[in-house]
Amino acid sequence: MKKELLVNLNNLLLSLSEVVDYINPSVDQHQYRTAYIALEMAKACRADMDIQEKIFSAALLHDIGAITVEEKIDLHGFESVDPQVHAMKGAVLLEQVPWLSPLSEIVAYHHREWKDWDRPIQDPIVFGSQVILLADCVERMVDRSKYILHQSPHIIQEIRKLSGTVVHPEILRCFLSIAEREEFWLDLVSSRLYSLLLSNGPFSNIQIGLDDVALISVLYKDLIDFKSRFTAAHTSGVSECAVLMADYFGMAEIDLKSMRIAGNFHDVGKLVIPNSILEKPGRLTKEEYDIIRCHTYYTYYTLTSIGGLQRIAEWAAYHHEKLDGSGYPFHLGRHEIGTGSRIMAVADIFTAISEDRPYRQGMDKNGIYQVFRTMVAEEALDKRIVDLLFDNYESINDHVKEKQAIALTFYQNKFQTFHHRLKNYPGI
Ligand SMILES: [Fe+2]
Ligand SMILES: [Fe+2]
Ligand SMILES: [Fe+2]
Repeated sequence: MKKELLVNLNNLLLSLSEVVDYINPSVDQHQYRTAYIALEMAKACRADMDIQEKIFSAALLHDIGAITVEEKIDLHGFESVDPQVHAMKGAVLLEQVPWLSPLSEIVAYHHREWKDWDRPIQDPIVFGSQVILLADCVERMVDRSKYILHQSPHIIQEIRKLSGTVVHPEILRCFLSIAEREEFWLDLVSSRLYSLLLSNGPFSNIQIGLDDVALISVLYKDLIDFKSRFTAAHTSGVSECAVLMADYFGMAEIDLKSMRIAGNFHDVGKLVIPNSILEKPGRLTKEEYDIIRCHTYYTYYTLTSIGGLQRIAEWAAYHHEKLDGSGYPFHLGRHEIGTGSRIMAVADIFTAISEDRPYRQGMDKNGIYQVFRTMVAEEALDKRIVDLLFDNYESINDHVKEKQAIALTFYQNKFQTFHHRLKNYPGI
């Protein structure tokens, strides 16, 4: 019997936090730098271990609600964007994941100033969100083009001004106690920060199984699909299609679990692609297409950097590879593309061409059949998998459409919830 893989939780959270920030040099590593500052502050305040864990994981995901590249870049400056929007969206996304839902309130309030609170600083939600607020400010004040120790005195001076209004004086005290160490600042901007957090983060000794990885993959499925209303059920469709086809193929139960995780993550690299390209009506230029083609590279890079997920990474990230070597980004050939990846490629194409997009209608069965037959004739796809799709076409199509309709309703409900919360802010 196959054994379930175990994945290091620290590594999983760090890698998934990082992919959200690859986007642009100005925000690169923003979340885990913020998590580092927040963790150091929580330790300096002698917060209980479970509070430290919550603060660290909430900080790693605190800007998850700034879903598009454009939103993230706007946020990183101190422009007049309303910070409550991404904070509330992040909270709504997190609250549905059983395991991460306790972080939801901290994320919701990570831009709420101390003067607006009517709860004491000892309240773990107030304390956690205040720590992240200050850590986030410090991180955004760092000028990445200047030597860190030449700017730290100025940052400290500016942060002092926030005491009593933006942050509670106790939160400032925690920060000042770590800010006097040069080592703190040097670690903050060091390229070894990732490995430092990997070995010293609060979850460094915790291993989780596939079921927990699956829960987190659902968060990322929604994050990817919420990026654009035009493809709001795409990942759900691909994932459902791939699992059902893998089942028809005769894969074992544990492999179906892996296939679902791979399906949920298959386009995680799209978080790096600006929406101005993803949602562009009409044809893409060559330059824009080159940027789109990065996405599976980032899917692969993110999943393999977690460790223990190599097979899932291949199933997820090879979905644009072709058996004749003409795919991207690895240009693999038939001997390097396994069955799981071949199933994912067929599931992705089937779902994409059967979906309606703003500039075209989804194809009918006949049109879909022609596309697949041409690709089989060109030796791009595996004939066995394509036959499997058409031998079970009605049941696969019905299943995918049903699950996509559920995903679309879920998406619309989540947005209603989000707008309702925002209107009634500060209530959550
Ligand atoms: Fe934020
Ligand atoms: Fe932030
Ligand atoms: Fe893709």
